[in-house]
Amino acid sequence: MPTTAPRADFGAPRHVAIIMDGNGRWAAARGLPRGEGHRRGVEALRKTVRAAGELGIGILTIFSFSAENWMRPASEIRDLMGLLRRFIRNDLAELHGNNIKVRIIGERDGLAPDIRRLLEEAEDLTRHNTGLILVVAFNYGARQEIARAMRGIAEDVAHGRLTPDAVSAELVASRLDAPDLPDPDVIIRTSGEQRLSNFLLWQAAYSELVFVPIYWPEFDRAALENALAEYRRRERRFGGLVVEAGS
Ligand code: FPP
Repeated sequence: MPTTAPRADFGAPRHVAIIMDGNGRWAAARGLPRGEGHRRGVEALRKTVRAAGELGIGILTIFSFSAENWMRPASEIRDLMGLLRRFIRNDLAELHGNNIKVRIIGERDGLAPDIRRLLEEAEDLTRHNTGLILVVAFNYGARQEIARAMRGIAEDVAHGRLTPDAVSAELVASRLDAPDLPDPDVIIRTSGEQRLSNFLLWQAAYSELVFVPIYWPEFDRAALENALAEYRRRERRFGGLVVEAGS
């Protein structure tokens, strides 16, 4: 008998993830330095976090700095780290006041000590909040995340704490950076590029992908609502069949 999956709940998706792309191109199109694109990107991020809360989204994951971004020029890396510092210093109190819980995914080893401290301070301060969960992917790469999980499992097998036949998809998922959170229902990427670029590769197995043609600094509540409307037009089957009404 074919398996059936329930139709998606057509309210707000529980978990929205965003690849914030196009800051550099937005700036170049206006004859501005790339750093200005990133600064406007932080403005768009503020608007999006606010809108996500208002729209009833439970979890918002943002790709803030990828494991591959270290290949950018040192001046741009300095700009991005400076923006993160300022974002946490200026916005953390407001995020906390709005009952937002901050979570961090990605590799923490190797980050500048003050950056690591700020990220951990954001998590600690907001740990007991019950509103929107804001997952900041920082120094994050999905292949690296999966490799970290595998390394832990391999160590457990080597020490006899696990047998190889205990290694299941569920076990691997339980070793990822935020194992308690559900997979994203939808991943949005701005700037017109249509790829995942090493973002949430494991968790994206059944996510809807929505690519929007605007650059990240232009993103706002209306753009988020349009992307969610596109998501709602999709039919999610999780490999099963969708039961049509009346059948
Ligand atoms: C992509 O634009 C964006 C990033 C590399 C990082 C996203 C960063 C922000 C929105 C601002 C920083 C916010 C925090 C909290 C650190 P791009 O530079 O790849 O644009 P391009 O593809 O047009 O060059």
